[in-house]
Amino acid sequence: MNYNIAVIRGDGIGPEIVGEAIRVLEIAAKRFGFSLSFLDVLMGGRAIDETGVPLPEETIRVCKASSAVLLGAVGGPKWDTLPGNLRPEAGLLGIRAALGLYANLRPAVLFDPLKDACPLKAEIVSNGLDILMVRELTGGIYFGERGRSQSIRGEEAYDTERYSVMEIERIGRIGFEAAKKRGNKLTSIDKANVLESSRLWRETMHRLAKEYPDVVYDDMLVDNCAMQLVRNPSRFDVVVTSNMFGDILSDEASMITGSIGMLPSASLGDGTLGLYEPIHGSAPDIAGTNAANPLATILSTAMLLRYSLNQQEAADAIERAVQKALEEGWRTADIAAGKPAIGTKEMGDVVCRLIETA
Ligand code: IPM
Ligand code: MG
Repeated sequence: MNYNIAVIRGDGIGPEIVGEAIRVLEIAAKRFGFSLSFLDVLMGGRAIDETGVPLPEETIRVCKASSAVLLGAVGGPKWDTLPGNLRPEAGLLGIRAALGLYANLRPAVLFDPLKDACPLKAEIVSNGLDILMVRELTGGIYFGERGRSQSIRGEEAYDTERYSVMEIERIGRIGFEAAKKRGNKLTSIDKANVLESSRLWRETMHRLAKEYPDVVYDDMLVDNCAMQLVRNPSRFDVVVTSNMFGDILSDEASMITGSIGMLPSASLGDGTLGLYEPIHGSAPDIAGTNAANPLATILSTAMLLRYSLNQQEAADAIERAVQKALEEGWRTADIAAGKPAIGTKEMGDVVCRLIETA
């Protein structure tokens, strides 16, 4: 079996972390008897530099014809002054929309050996931490009408939050289905005390909840959720929310697991094609210094194998290898908590070695 994987190395630390992730994937494929062909395509800052646009048509075409897309990270100060629709981030939103990837799964897991890196008091996380954040990814304020206007008060700007019942239902179902496979608990996050779009969100979720009587369901306001994530994070199992709330809350959830450098993500639609990326950014400040943590990208390859390629054993082996690397005490600077750290490439070496036996 051979699979085509489109690769967007991206900007900043992107090429370094993707390089390690590809080495890991190749070793896992070899061990479990399948093969992978990688095809590089451009998106983000490098695409702007080389083609003038953040998301070339060719990239969309190649991604659509692939089994999965592996992405590093895009963006950097070099492109920060470009108009919104020409920034690297517009490429990221564009590819999510072009591939119909409306469901973003962001698992926030506290690895036992990293307990010291967790900024919360030990008693708060004594029950461990295993949250699956399900973020709506192709709607809401990210994609609503926006613009500038002049009024008697001077210049104004606006962005619009808009959700249809169809969009809420399809992401809601992903949340309920995920809960069934885990702790059977789903919390939907909104701001229904203020926003009309949230009131529709909540109504729709309540209707859906009737179809899943076995899942324990509750709603929570987003401000309260931000608080509960640091007060009692183990109360959460699966969390489902809108595009912007999910963006904000998933960074918070990642930090309580020790480092944003540990969290993978999968962006999925109705088919098996998915896009896999770490949830962190391109960290231009450490780009090219072999200091980035490649584990979020490596863990994203496990999600790629699981969701797009249905290679469960290989996915398990990668996750076990990462767990083992942490147990053996290997740390990149972001999770070292003052202890000696190894580089991006060396962490890749450790995981590759451990996959052989994991
Ligand atoms: C993320 C990022 C992106 C987002 C940015 C880079 C556009 O923060 O994937 O969480 O807001 O979706
Ligand atoms: Mg974000």
